[in-house]
Amino acid sequence: MSNFSILVLNGPNLNLLGQREPTIYGHLTLDDINTMLEEEAVKLNVKLSCFQSNHEGVLVDYIHQSLNNYQGILINAGAYTHTSVAIRDALSGVAIPVVEVHLSNIYRREDFRHHSYIADIAVGQISGFGAESYRLGLHGLVNHLQSTFRK
Ligand code: DQA
Repeated sequence: MSNFSILVLNGPNLNLLGQREPTIYGHLTLDDINTMLEEEAVKLNVKLSCFQSNHEGVLVDYIHQSLNNYQGILINAGAYTHTSVAIRDALSGVAIPVVEVHLSNIYRREDFRHHSYIADIAVGQISGFGAESYRLGLHGLVNHLQSTFRK
């Protein structure tokens, strides 16, 4: 039995999934991905809250609000992955376990996508499996929380 509450955060341009560069990001919309995650959450017996924003400060605010409300964060920060010290600092500040996910394999793409400001403060990163990255990431995060809280 887990009953953890998990914040699922999506950053800029991920609201365009489905129509955005489908050869890279696939044909599923963000709603499709969130629905799939909700189904998975029922099986894992965890609660999810899913948000998307194109604004760095709004994402920082969501991360701050996770204090005392969520035990884990699943994040695809989109392009902010590669630029945002503010999002990294917010995640470090709340000190809630975070798993980073990407639809595409960021290491097979342009050099500027190879660095993540989140990776070294995350429990782990999953990159390159399309929508499946989110499902795998959720499993990894729940597993991590279960083993941490069991100690
Ligand atoms: C992304 C990869 C980022 O480099 C890009 O800016 C995105 C999406 C992914 O899910 O593959 O917006 O995070």
